[in-house]
Amino acid sequence: MIRVLMVCLGNICRSPMAEYIFRDMADKRGLGDRVQCDSAGTSDEEWGNPVYPPARRKLAELGIGCAGKRARQMTKQDYGRYDLLIGMEERNLAAMRRICGGDPEGKIHLMLEASPNRRNIADPWYSGDFDTACADITEGCRLWLDLIERNCRRS
Ligand code: 4NP
Repeated sequence: MIRVLMVCLGNICRSPMAEYIFRDMADKRGLGDRVQCDSAGTSDEEWGNPVYPPARRKLAELGIGCAGKRARQMTKQDYGRYDLLIGMEERNLAAMRRICGGDPEGKIHLMLEASPNRRNIADPWYSGDFDTACADITEGCRLWLDLIERNCRRS
């Protein structure tokens, strides 16, 4: 079982979209029983709040529900609980390393680090552009699942 934690700042826009898109894609590839995915934020600003409505609407367009998801802040203990901690932008990675006290096992990664166009996923909370965030997140999930699938085939 590969345990993945998707991380952004608030855990109401990008990382919940990543969590649910990743799970849906994993299920469709027949990897549902090989991967587990959750999400968290580096800040406690949105603690307990549901997924932000425009993000929820983007997921609904894809036929994906996110009922019951509530924002939480990531903790140092998450470093031991997950195999991969994937941040949406460089700023998230810096905060994740701060929370975890570093990254001794090399588990902290950028969502689009394997993309030919390595980049941050811009925060739609500020940009209002949920279409681009969703497309970028979908690309990232595809790349990570490609990697996981290659490793699963080897093991
Ligand atoms: P997210 O977006 O990090 O993609 O969930 C944000 C949501 C809320 C805030 C910032 C970013 N906020 O400052 O409350």
